Amino acid sequence: MKLGVFDSGLGGVMISRAIKDHLPDLDMVYLGDTLHVPYGNRSEKAIHNYSKNCIEYLFTQENCQIIIMACNTASASALRKLQQEWLPKHFPERRILGVVVPTIEYSIDRGFENLGLLGTNYTVHSKVYLQELQKINPNITIHQVNTPLLVPLIEHDGMQWIDEVLDHYMKPLMDKGIEAVILSCTHYTCLKDRVRERYNIEVFSQDEIVPVKLKDYLDRHPESETKIGKSGADTFLVTDLTPEYTQQASRYFGKDIELSHVLYKDTV
Ligand code: DGL
Repeated sequence: MKLGVFDSGLGGVMISRAIKDHLPDLDMVYLGDTLHVPYGNRSEKAIHNYSKNCIEYLFTQENCQIIIMACNTASASALRKLQQEWLPKHFPERRILGVVVPTIEYSIDRGFENLGLLGTNYTVHSKVYLQELQKINPNITIHQVNTPLLVPLIEHDGMQWIDEVLDHYMKPLMDKGIEAVILSCTHYTCLKDRVRERYNIEVFSQDEIVPVKLKDYLDRHPESETKIGKSGADTFLVTDLTPEYTQQASRYFGKDIELSHVLYKDTV
């Protein structure tokens, strides 16, 4: 069996890279829903159905034991319902793990109380980070900024414009004197060093959080861990394939990768 990594697009490639660096032996399959990226501006129903279709594909066609739902937007909208209602009915022995809870745990451990967050429209408006953080520590303030231009710039090789766009989004957060910023979108992983240097601030980036928390989960759940193959094989799948995407994905994974197009059961 395999570990699945699901995302709407390139961010999942960055998370896959980080998981491979941390747990190189695990057999892993990445699925990017490139047909529908970006998820961040879509309706809850669309995000739920796209996510469910991808997850179902990874369970049935790729024999995944655990799937990391790397997409924050999907984790904020679809994850709970899938975990609580759909999974027990269809795949009771398998697991779907999101990225919000590990990021919350990490943020709490770091101990800051005045935080900023950059996220997609859906993630910001869901207030999931705000609610979950304040449940644990009501003294935490979190200033959120919806950053719709970042994913298209990252997906379409627009890094030359990124500083100007980042300055625009970061200014209201810096004006609030934040101590750290949560990059609550897998895609923003590739911006972490830029944000650290440009604003001289602590950055919580999910490529540094998810692999460590995954290892911890696997250590605590040998019943799942032992089912996952350890040959170090990688598979990369997308729901729409272009030469540009292959190039970008290879760049973010750090070596040439072969992407395969999967036939997608499109239901919204
Ligand atoms: N990767 C998604 C996330 O983490 C953002 C990209 C999108 O909008 O699809 O939220």
